[in-house]
Amino acid sequence: MTKFSYQNELDDFKATAHWLALRGWSEAAGGNMSIRLDAQNNFLSKLHEDDHIKLPVDVPYLAGKAVLLTGSGTRAREIGVDPLPHIGLYKISDDGRYYGWIAGNETPSMELPAHFAIHNALEQHRPGDKAILHTHPASLIALCHVDGFDNAKTISDKILSMQSEARLILPEGIGFVEHELPGSLELGLKSAKLLERHHLVLWQCHGLLATGDSLAGAFDKLEVFEKSARVYWQLRAAGIDPAGISETEIKHTLKAFGRLERY
Ligand code: 13P
Ligand code: ZN
Repeated sequence: MTKFSYQNELDDFKATAHWLALRGWSEAAGGNMSIRLDAQNNFLSKLHEDDHIKLPVDVPYLAGKAVLLTGSGTRAREIGVDPLPHIGLYKISDDGRYYGWIAGNETPSMELPAHFAIHNALEQHRPGDKAILHTHPASLIALCHVDGFDNAKTISDKILSMQSEARLILPEGIGFVEHELPGSLELGLKSAKLLERHHLVLWQCHGLLATGDSLAGAFDKLEVFEKSARVYWQLRAAGIDPAGISETEIKHTLKAFGRLERY
């Protein structure tokens, strides 16, 4: 196996996978992660025509860039111990229509279409977010089975009103994609559109997709949403359907911290 050395990124994969496994959010091979690289060095320029694989969607904003992506079937609990064998390095062609494997794990996550489509949107709209994290937390999947929790507004307003700072960290709320085939381009394209503005997208009855400046940053936002969902579930288990913090209070808090325009 050709090796590569992106030590900071590998450390980010390792630490994040460790915590995903510990929290039970990425069971078995559930979930996947990627980090976008600028790829301005010689090692990464060698994507030969013969190695070109057609992308399911053009990604013009990724032209000439590279992505580190977890392999399909890889386990968070193993990535968290030794990330290198589980992560592949892929280069995007200079016209943004092809990609090729460069080094590391050779079997990309089945969510490759989503990761590439989302990185393309992030590079265009929110270039500071270089990392994408997808995982399957039970408390978030369970939300999708509640009557009426079938849209972004209802879920955002209810769940992010459980705790005083949740909406402050996620003023835009979350995005929501109705059930789509795992690994499909539709899932990727719908998510990419929502992530132009949001940092989290809930995939109905599947899991969550988070973006951040790093995987640790994406994990932060996932943690905030998941904590709020757990507060909700604890109250429901106690027989309480919580009203949550009022909209007036939420807006007051956002205004005090200068984030009301993102609400
Ligand atoms: P991969 O192992 O192919 O990344 O698939 C896991 C998953 O969660 C798909 O949504
Ligand atoms: Zn999944």
